[in-house]
Amino acid sequence: MIDPWSSTSLDYEKLVQQFGIKPFRDLLGDIENPSLLMRRGIIFGHRDFGHIVKALREKKPFAVVTGMMPSGKMHIGHKMIVDQLIWYQNKKAEIYIPIADMESYSARGVEFSESRKLALEEYITNYIALGLNFKSKNVHTYLQSENRDVNDLAYKLALKVNWNEMKAIYGFSGPTNIAHLYAPLIQVADILHPQLEAYGGPKPVVVPVGPDQDPHIRLTRDIAERFKTQFHFLSPSSTYHRFITGLTGGKMSSSKPKTAIFLSDSPDVAEKKIKTAKTGGRESLDEQKKLGGMPEDCVVYEMLLYHLVDDDHELAEIRNQCRSGQIMCGECKAQTALKVRELFETLSQKREKARSKALKVLED
Ligand code: TRP
Ligand code: SF4
Repeated sequence: MIDPWSSTSLDYEKLVQQFGIKPFRDLLGDIENPSLLMRRGIIFGHRDFGHIVKALREKKPFAVVTGMMPSGKMHIGHKMIVDQLIWYQNKKAEIYIPIADMESYSARGVEFSESRKLALEEYITNYIALGLNFKSKNVHTYLQSENRDVNDLAYKLALKVNWNEMKAIYGFSGPTNIAHLYAPLIQVADILHPQLEAYGGPKPVVVPVGPDQDPHIRLTRDIAERFKTQFHFLSPSSTYHRFITGLTGGKMSSSKPKTAIFLSDSPDVAEKKIKTAKTGGRESLDEQKKLGGMPEDCVVYEMLLYHLVDDDHELAEIRNQCRSGQIMCGECKAQTALKVRELFETLSQKREKARSKALKVLED
């Protein structure tokens, strides 16, 4: 059982084997200019992404839905979702960004006014600074609590969902009150409403998420099936990305500041943090020269892989130097720290400009 509100680490292989998530790499050859996250296996799994491949190939309309849960500061791991949205934006998708203030209220006790503030000042500000264009008419951002169509649809869909089913999906460690139990129905409606007639009717929809969200995806796909005759829904697709490792080796989490580089960190702080990160280096320099480092167990390498090196050849070169013991962790960290500094310098400049733009995003 996966609990989306308190998932610890997940075994990606097992997810693929047990829950019917398909390996993403099998589709890679069919996608024109796959993104960095796709090429590097960070997006490792999918359900029915074939619908999206087809829409891309035939230049047919499709939508992307991915919500933000305002419950803390954004860290570098969260950048991944924005990178994916930018890729889809370039592919001309309709983009829906629900702000999960209802979920945040019922699952985390965050007040609605607080969610709104956090979403605008932290999340949307960062999304803009990272390069997502909210001015485009293809981007639809809304607060769950203010979207009448989503709430109406959720209520209608709830008619064909019963308690036993919710218990089977979320377990007893999951939702504990009715508001919390209902929150997933709002998310299901977030995902399905772009297929309503008023939104252009049935179409492929993809939901890029972390694997902790898969219970919601399974619920959505089941419900879509049940309402097929009424709404003609096409079963939504999903993709799953790996989570970036925290600086100390476990999960990167906003609630554990030692594990995270926050997007709002100054370039100095970000640079210092990367220098404290756990590496895949050996006990001694001698040993590392002899055996080489282990990039697959290295937080520094992961940062390069996910966020700092666009060129696949350059990355392969770093990996080879590490594996063959030609570069030591000290030097490698210093080089990486420079790249982190550059990224964070640009980001902090862009955040300044993004701030006032963000406040206007919910206005129209
Ligand atoms: N539950 C998601 C989270 O915890 C947020 C969310 C709300 C969402 N609606 C969504 C995600 C629709 C994907 C699609 O982050
Ligand atoms: Fe990580 Fe670099 Fe050390 Fe290799 S050399 S283990 S990539 S820090």
